Amino acid sequence: MNKIKVSTPGKLMLFGDHSVVYNRPCIVASVDQRFEVVVEKIKGKEMVVQAPGVGIYDYRKDLNKLGETRITKELRFVEVVVREFYSKRTFGGIKIKTKNHFSSEHGFGSSAAVTVGLSKALFELKGIKISNKKLFDFCYKVVLDVQGVGSGFDVAAALYGGVLYFVTGGRKIEKIKVPNFLTSESSEPSYIVVGYTGIKADTPTLVRQVAELKRHDPEKIEKCFDEITKIVKKAKISLEKKDWKRAGELMNENQVKLEELGVSSVELDNLIKAAREAGAYGAKLSGAGGGDCMLAVVNKKTKDKVEKAIEDAGGEVMRVKLGAEGAKIE
Ligand code: MEV
Repeated sequence: MNKIKVSTPGKLMLFGDHSVVYNRPCIVASVDQRFEVVVEKIKGKEMVVQAPGVGIYDYRKDLNKLGETRITKELRFVEVVVREFYSKRTFGGIKIKTKNHFSSEHGFGSSAAVTVGLSKALFELKGIKISNKKLFDFCYKVVLDVQGVGSGFDVAAALYGGVLYFVTGGRKIEKIKVPNFLTSESSEPSYIVVGYTGIKADTPTLVRQVAELKRHDPEKIEKCFDEITKIVKKAKISLEKKDWKRAGELMNENQVKLEELGVSSVELDNLIKAAREAGAYGAKLSGAGGGDCMLAVVNKKTKDKVEKAIEDAGGEVMRVKLGAEGAKIE
């Protein structure tokens, strides 16, 4: 095999944002906005990258110089994956082409998606059989290397897909069965509506902000994380039972805790308030906070009203399907 194409889904955090960085569980769902990577063996000892989504059209680097020269900001994840892969294996020149079906602005997790897609493609091309857990560990190491912080929940979503109960660093990765998951095309009476604030969240900065808060008052913040953990566990049961009303109420409870952590924003608060007032069972921010997206659980009767309310409040409704398939060879 000389060429391979792998696609990976994006993600949305449903419950347990931030506390999952501290040995606690979260619930994450993959979304059908996919990322594609094509890797091709080429002659010579060069890595060629074409990533038009981030404005890179023909980037070249000598594979013997990986890790020696400055890393291009837009290609940090690509370069560290390649560096890690080549550090233990011999392999020839490669050409990497990436394509985003979603904007990296929305917080659907393009860094994890590229890391997982490229890593899976390289192992496949080299003919190395690797378990999903080992591939997770490889990718999580790359993400930590580049970002310095993070639970790895986005890596798990890109790799496994579906809806996952996930504990920090992949200590637990359990698929939750949510049939016909909450999409506007499902036969279920309820859905999750996703509203984008128009603002790109800066995850590492927000994670460090919470770390700083925890350093000042560890007892208070640990207690807050423990309360979020209780919410996450209840949410898992409510999703398994398809008790969407309860899932919405638990989103409201989770949002209160995220506000205590100081990670919500005026824009998020406005969209969340608008969704609740329009009849959503509940709503919360999704991810690091400070921007990106919010979620609301609605039913057939309230869906259109909630979507309109989110738009009237300045948000953009993202029509995504949750629970998409994990990394796959196309
Ligand atoms: C960011 O999307 C979610 C956080 O929980 C960070 C992480 O889990 O890596 C804030």
